[in-house]
Amino acid sequence: MSANDITIEPLAAALGAEIRGIDLAEPLAPDTERTLRDAWADHQVIFFRDQKLTAEQHTAFARRFGELHVHPVIPSRKDEGFPEIVVLESSDKLPFVAERWHSDVTFQAKPPLGSILHGVIVPKAGGDTMWASMYAAYEGLSDSMQRLLSELHAVHDGSGFLAIGNDDQNDELKKDMTAVHPVVRTHPVTGRKGIFVNETFTQKIKGMRAKESTAILSFLYEHLKSPEYTCRFHWRPGSVAMWDNRCTQHRVIADNLDAHRRMERVTICGDQPY
Ligand SMILES: [Fe+2]
Repeated sequence: MSANDITIEPLAAALGAEIRGIDLAEPLAPDTERTLRDAWADHQVIFFRDQKLTAEQHTAFARRFGELHVHPVIPSRKDEGFPEIVVLESSDKLPFVAERWHSDVTFQAKPPLGSILHGVIVPKAGGDTMWASMYAAYEGLSDSMQRLLSELHAVHDGSGFLAIGNDDQNDELKKDMTAVHPVVRTHPVTGRKGIFVNETFTQKIKGMRAKESTAILSFLYEHLKSPEYTCRFHWRPGSVAMWDNRCTQHRVIADNLDAHRRMERVTICGDQPY
């Protein structure tokens, strides 16, 4: 498959595009990889359909973009030799996780660069995922608000995760559960600015009174989920979503609570936000 056979179809104005003509299980030709990287930078989250990925192929594809992250708490396939593959499973017995807007693991000093999520078992209806563009949300603010936010830093805390009791927790990694990041970060590849606080992990804005911090964060959380900044993806078995964690947020729609849904995620390590 050459780069000429690849099509890229945007899903919404702010972000998201479906890419056809790439088999993620195969090694990528250099021009195909360039097309994919450019599409990822432009669209922030890209989608593929009908992919058949083994655990080896899923991790090998992700490794082209960086080192792989091991989550401190969420269950993984480590017993099969894949601690980098996080398993997100829900059913009539297991509740959905990630129902609130967030970007992944922002409570660490170097949050992940991106994630590659493979839909293994998905309901016929429901269980969609939404993404929001933090570039678009930032660009939708007035100059005055952009200037105010650009000087602020926020505390992120993931200790709520520790309440999820499971045998998979990594005691060493569990020490890295709080971090301070700029409220507006600059993307190291595109140079664009985006909002970098989220209602799941951000605790407060540093150096502000509690009332001030709460008012600004509540406003931002409401603002960044405005429909015009989002896209919504319906999963089919074999669908893959690959998102840039530095400029997007996401959440699941928990609307088919009894259906079995199993997703496998490989996450790529990132840099310290600036
Ligand atoms: Fe997530």
